Amino acid sequence: MTLPSPAERVAFLRCKIAHHDRLYYVEARPEIGDADYDALYRELESLERAHPELAAPDSPTQRVGGAPLAAFAEVRHVPPMLSLDKTHSRDDLLDFDHFLRKNLGDTPLAYVVEPKVDGVAFSLLYECGLLIRAATRGNGEVGDDITRNVRTIRTIPLRIATDAARVELRGEVFLPKEAFLRLVQQQEAAGEAPFANPRNAAAGSLKLLDSREVAQRPLDTLLYAAGALEGMAFATHAALLDQLVAWGFRTPAYTRCATIDAVLSAIAKLETRRHDFPFEMDGAVVKLDDRSLYKAPGIGTTAKSPRWARAFKFVPERAETVLRDITVQVGRTGVLTPVAELEPVRLAGSVISRATLHNADEVARKDIRVGDHVWIAKAGDVIPAIESVITEKRTGNEHAFVMPAACPVCKCGVARREDEVALRCVNPFCPAQCAARLEHFASRNALEIEGLGGVVADALVSAGLVHDPLDLFALSADALAGLVMRQSSTGRAVQLGARNAAKILQAIEKARAKPFDRWIFALGIPRIGTTVATQAAACHQSFAELAHSELLQQVVATPDAPPATCPVKLEAARAILEFFAGDYGRRTLARLEELGIRPPVTPSAASADGPLRGKIFVLTGTLSISREEMSARIRQAGGKVADAVTKATSFLLAGEDAGGAKFRKAQELKTPQITEQDLARMFEPGAEGRPA
Ligand code: IVH
Repeated sequence: MTLPSPAERVAFLRCKIAHHDRLYYVEARPEIGDADYDALYRELESLERAHPELAAPDSPTQRVGGAPLAAFAEVRHVPPMLSLDKTHSRDDLLDFDHFLRKNLGDTPLAYVVEPKVDGVAFSLLYECGLLIRAATRGNGEVGDDITRNVRTIRTIPLRIATDAARVELRGEVFLPKEAFLRLVQQQEAAGEAPFANPRNAAAGSLKLLDSREVAQRPLDTLLYAAGALEGMAFATHAALLDQLVAWGFRTPAYTRCATIDAVLSAIAKLETRRHDFPFEMDGAVVKLDDRSLYKAPGIGTTAKSPRWARAFKFVPERAETVLRDITVQVGRTGVLTPVAELEPVRLAGSVISRATLHNADEVARKDIRVGDHVWIAKAGDVIPAIESVITEKRTGNEHAFVMPAACPVCKCGVARREDEVALRCVNPFCPAQCAARLEHFASRNALEIEGLGGVVADALVSAGLVHDPLDLFALSADALAGLVMRQSSTGRAVQLGARNAAKILQAIEKARAKPFDRWIFALGIPRIGTTVATQAAACHQSFAELAHSELLQQVVATPDAPPATCPVKLEAARAILEFFAGDYGRRTLARLEELGIRPPVTPSAASADGPLRGKIFVLTGTLSISREEMSARIRQAGGKVADAVTKATSFLLAGEDAGGAKFRKAQELKTPQITEQDLARMFEPGAEGRPA
């Protein structure tokens, strides 16, 4: 047997990795664990380093992004990227069908109905199967060349199986709703102005000049049209979509309709299910299925839009209510956030009584006053937000909101940092900040100190027992047992008690041995989420090493040529070094030493051997903890979490009042359904990932 040459091995690894990327990102049915995948990837990286002559633009290693660009080049779209004419009613759609039949002879016409994805339109150009360019829509004639940014999106194949000279495809880039929620939370904690909705977040991400930053945003794509095609043709739109799937793209789930009546019911069905999709959907798109009719006499396109397709816009869901008050919350990093206290009202399946107003600029921009009647909507389908003020209903008794000149909790000064919109309380010992830091420290993704939630954290800080999370390690059982808290429902004072105190103390002791990445996250370093914490833990052995990290210093010093062994990006590297260089960070480091806390270094393959390894979960209904937390637990145990039920789904984890589209799909596919208790059993030793 002869060994493969480096070129052969490189080709083999690229093919394997592309295959596993597709299974993981596009089809949500991975066949190998993270550790095995990482091994393939590292082998390819090292072969490419040793043989620079083998470099190729379609190598999976090209997805990590490169040095920042000064500006984007321009790209001319031929043919132009058109828009769609909008319809708003049944009658508009019947008129559309009538118009087409008048021009095409009076035979029933077949259509395709798809979700209208509220993202950012873009185009992809493949020559002889190789991705050579990606561009934004721009004004439809000319857009920006965003090839390097788009390469980082894992659901875009870098090569497709075709010899066709030119295949230009079009679709939408979007940020999934859950990822949007996480991004906004990070932006708020960092004192930045958060994106208003997932579309802005996707557009803002694609406009980043540094593709390495884009690689950190979990952007996704759906492809739904072809531009110029040379060397291939499709008889129907459905056939085009099927080919896109075969090439490994994600496409919108479509319904083929033999009549316009079927179109109407397909749209009605989509509208009722619109919140079940992982992306924001603002309507449906109806396209003539027979592509040979697109250029028929009387059809074709106007200057702006094709005559063979229509968009049907859904009415945005919103509710009217009254703004009773604006309170101000102080977060973990001291950021002051105005919060709207609303007359409770039902909206898209839940009762809303509070909405974040983000920052004072936002309140001023929308001219929101206490006492106003307002329209509320859900940004990105998830975050309640005041959309606009109903000014006609003003009585003159409303009053303008002013941000407090001092912290509402500790009464210390507030300040605005350069380049930030947020005001921050400047007192690091502010009880609100301390309590929020403590709650974060104990949270599930951090050190998982069960029993130490927001109420206990507040009480510990108010009682003066804890000023800093590390004070927890000096708490006595007696002091903790005697802790008095206010019950949020009744306002009654209750004692924590000896049993609860013992449980919490046990969890605190257990926290000492939690892995390094969780500890890094737990410290609440501004801008450091779980992803960066994991990256930082992967290339450092201890807090002392991290605090004075040469690797991170190199990343900061030479951002264009960061050390290959350090996955931490510029911004994050800077944040970590700044934290440990400051007073608080230095003190934290010294106390960790004193307390003898040396977290075990995370074995990168920990989750690969977890009890849920190879299992894919879909979550639905109301769970006892947030979906994000539940997903993190599943991932930590080696499982995967997907957004939609498919044949590949191993289990539907159904919480209370489950019964939506995922539930129905699971019944249809006979996907096993489990409860949270069942899931808990799967974690137990010996269960090997099986429910009881
Ligand atoms: S087809 C020539 N299909 O909606 C027609 N567009 O309001 C090309 N959009 O510019 C567009 N989902 O950015 C098509 N399933 C879908 C879509 C979709 C979203 C966007 C697209 C278009 C805009 C028109």
